[in-house]
Amino acid sequence: MKRALITGITGQDGSYLTEYLLSMDYEVHGIMRRHSVAENQNSRLYELNGHIKTYYGDLLDYPSLVRIFQKVQPDEIYNLGAMSHVRISYDIPSFTIQTNALGVLNMLEIYRTLSPHAKFYQASSSEMFGNSVDDDNMQRLTTPMNPVSPYGCAKVMGYNLVRHYRHAYKLHACNGILFNHESPRRGSNFVTNKVVKGAVAIKKGLQDKLELGNMDSYRDWGHSKDYVRAMHLILNHNIPDEFVVATGITHSVRDLCHIVFEKLGLNYLDYVVQNPKYMRPEELKYLKGDASRTREVLGWRPEYTFETMLEEMIERWMKEI
Ligand code: NAP
Ligand code: GDD
Repeated sequence: MKRALITGITGQDGSYLTEYLLSMDYEVHGIMRRHSVAENQNSRLYELNGHIKTYYGDLLDYPSLVRIFQKVQPDEIYNLGAMSHVRISYDIPSFTIQTNALGVLNMLEIYRTLSPHAKFYQASSSEMFGNSVDDDNMQRLTTPMNPVSPYGCAKVMGYNLVRHYRHAYKLHACNGILFNHESPRRGSNFVTNKVVKGAVAIKKGLQDKLELGNMDSYRDWGHSKDYVRAMHLILNHNIPDEFVVATGITHSVRDLCHIVFEKLGLNYLDYVVQNPKYMRPEELKYLKGDASRTREVLGWRPEYTFETMLEEMIERWMKEI
């Protein structure tokens, strides 16, 4: 039985990855932070109660990480823990850089000293590219990284640290550069789930307007369930390396609103208003990922389309609201 250790297990990806690994008979261990309201903390893991082991820890608390590594002795390490909200990273830049960059350094140091024979996956991000695009309007491994947010800057550092530790200490450490991925479990302050939740509340007569920021940025949106399969393939590839995970299809936030409201029989133009509060000091305008190498080398394919993913998210809020 393989033992996996997941940071960020309470998050969207952590919960889907846990389910996926359990389905393959892994023993799954996860690191959880202390929250003041304990009830909601592991709401994404409710159905897995009794099937996983969790430990209090924090990427910034070195002693807790050492203790957990010694106890678990993992075969596979998935470092998904992060302050993952790009707009909020402008509000709390120092915490973001500490968690998303120095947190990776903490993990790598403990990995190389206590579990050097394990495999290590780092949750890197398309936000690292910033506004760089290749001539064909896509981003890939060779696209320059010019991040436009504290979040993106920190992720570039984490990405480079993983490459450095791999080369310097001959570790099986790899990066997945994942483009945006969503699901019914997505935090409701990310744009897809905010739009779906708002549109359903409007449909049910509980809300009049939906306030958004920039509607003219484009994102390459996939489903988290598809993307956690890619994480496992990347980590278990025989050569530790970097891989892009994306659908290769891009939509604007405006398209997103149009599609979601239309599925509910509404016209988004009647309800969506802009509020400067949600604009960013510097915007990443366009993402469209080239995952052709990931498809060829790892045989990865997404199963969801943009539309089937949105339908699943609408279904969640129709039941819940
Ligand atoms: P998420 O839902 O926000 O989950 C983030 C997880 O990190 C949560 O479990 C959170 O714990 C934990 N965390 C935050 N700060 C921590 C700290 N100091 N120490 C330990 N754990 C901490 O994010 P996600 O969508 O699942 O994303 C997973 C990873 O992939 C993140 O690293 C993210 O940056 C990266 N990524 C995501 C996407 C995407 O589109 N989803 C794309 C590319 C890369 P709490 O529950 O206590 O807050
Ligand atoms: N969150 C949010 N809220 N975004 C809005 C809003 C709003 O009210 N209105 C417009 N947007 C726009 C943002 O300006 C951005 O251009 C786009 O919607 C997507 O925003 P998010 O859903 O917050 O995601 P993100 O692209 O900034 O970051 C996500 O993807 C990254 C990978 O590219 C996060 O999951 C990151 O953790 C991840 O690394």
